[in-house]
Amino acid sequence: MKRQEAPSVAQRRVFIRTFGCQMNEYDSRRMLESLRPEYTPVSAPEDADLIILNTCSVREKAEVKVYSLAGRLKHLKRRRPDLIIAVCGCVAQQEGQRLVERMPHIDIVLGPQGIYRLREALAKVRAGEGPVVDTDIRDDFCLPSALSPEVKAVKAFVTIMQGCNNYCSYCVVPYVRGPEISRRPGEILAEIRALVSQGVREVTLLGQNVNSYGKRQPGFPTFAQLLERVAQIDGLWRLRFTTSHPKDLSPELMRAFVEIPILCEHLHLPVQSGSDRILAAMNRGYRREDYLKKVERLRELVPEIALTTDIIVGFPGEREEDFQATLDLLKEVEFDEIFSFKYSDRPFARARSFPDKVPEEVKEERLATVHNLQLEISRRRYRRLVGQEVEVLVEGRGKSDPRQWTGRTRQNTVVNFYGGQDLTGKLVKVLVEEACQHSVRGRLVGTLH
Ligand code: SAH
Ligand code: SF4
Ligand code: F3S
Repeated sequence: MKRQEAPSVAQRRVFIRTFGCQMNEYDSRRMLESLRPEYTPVSAPEDADLIILNTCSVREKAEVKVYSLAGRLKHLKRRRPDLIIAVCGCVAQQEGQRLVERMPHIDIVLGPQGIYRLREALAKVRAGEGPVVDTDIRDDFCLPSALSPEVKAVKAFVTIMQGCNNYCSYCVVPYVRGPEISRRPGEILAEIRALVSQGVREVTLLGQNVNSYGKRQPGFPTFAQLLERVAQIDGLWRLRFTTSHPKDLSPELMRAFVEIPILCEHLHLPVQSGSDRILAAMNRGYRREDYLKKVERLRELVPEIALTTDIIVGFPGEREEDFQATLDLLKEVEFDEIFSFKYSDRPFARARSFPDKVPEEVKEERLATVHNLQLEISRRRYRRLVGQEVEVLVEGRGKSDPRQWTGRTRQNTVVNFYGGQDLTGKLVKVLVEEACQHSVRGRLVGTLH
């Protein structure tokens, strides 16, 4: 049923800026939805009555960025005292009260659970009861139902579980996102059905460790069973998920790639390091060999599967030979793409107090080495596509060249191509003609859907 939008509601404007992972993107969409119909989104902070920064704290650099951006908003507030500024998400959870102490122009601070109470916080601020700091984390927190999602894109994210219980020694996430809690399957299915009715064709299910979906809640399906149920939804063409933790990647989930036709052949499987000593210090719960075996098994089952990963260089105590083991692993697996990061000390995380911190210059050097090695590998993998016809779900106009269309293959490779009429939302066949650094280019040869 469509919600009646009262014409008498004064139109307020909201500007939102999202940092960090896809979960934050999901949360930002949910915040905007919760503000409808009172607020319409705008693209410049100067035009807004409410400014929301949805923040990330995974590395120090991300946190510093938030402080500097929030600081720059002070002059807007001075000009327009009725402007409301909200800092939400992981930095908000981490810093809490400190944020409003350091920056009195901030009205609202909401952690990842608190953002679902945004309307209450706004009401308090308007009643003169600000600033509001809501960083409560409850073990039995349930994401409220998404009654009327509004998505104009072809793809959408859907969070299926909050939080994380893994406590990798470098990571702040379990502390800022709270414990692992799975959403009820009925809620997830209802939200995806609603998204599909808005024209969404591809959904990515999100969790810090999707393999453990439902394990702590009696009567819940396993993750693989949930995928099967989602795949039954009419009108959904593609299904993805992230992130899968290597220690919990089950044979059942591997088989899902074979058994569920709409499940795309791409797996993001963060390895972090190729050295057993470092993996143990990171508390990852698997050894290099376990990881390699799982990759081998997966490729036996699904030869065309694309693999991507995350790498941390310069973890405390990482010696030259440990780093070499990471490079060797990258050469052995040949990932399609990787995301590589310099280790960063985080509040609450155990590794913060580990000895033998790696100097910044060494981290820089190792990051550059990893980066260059992977560029070569990715380029080689993309070159294999030249001359092949690939299936592309078109997302819209190209970013660098608006005469082109852009979309992704099932393996998640970005494809840019020329073609005539509006192809957004269409499933097309493209002949790949050229491999670029992080994408391929080609020409349209047919429309499938
Ligand atoms: N739950 C996901 C990861 C979420 S964080 C998983 O376990 O794979 C995304 C990535 O950020 C991690 O995979 C890791 O590579 C990186 N990361 C997390 N904490 C970090 C830190 N303190 N320093 C550098 N990189 C970090
Ligand atoms: Fe962080 Fe590890 Fe949890 Fe991923 S699994 S969010 S890296 S603690
Ligand atoms: Fe960042 Fe929070 Fe996501 S720390 S990576 S936004 S879970």
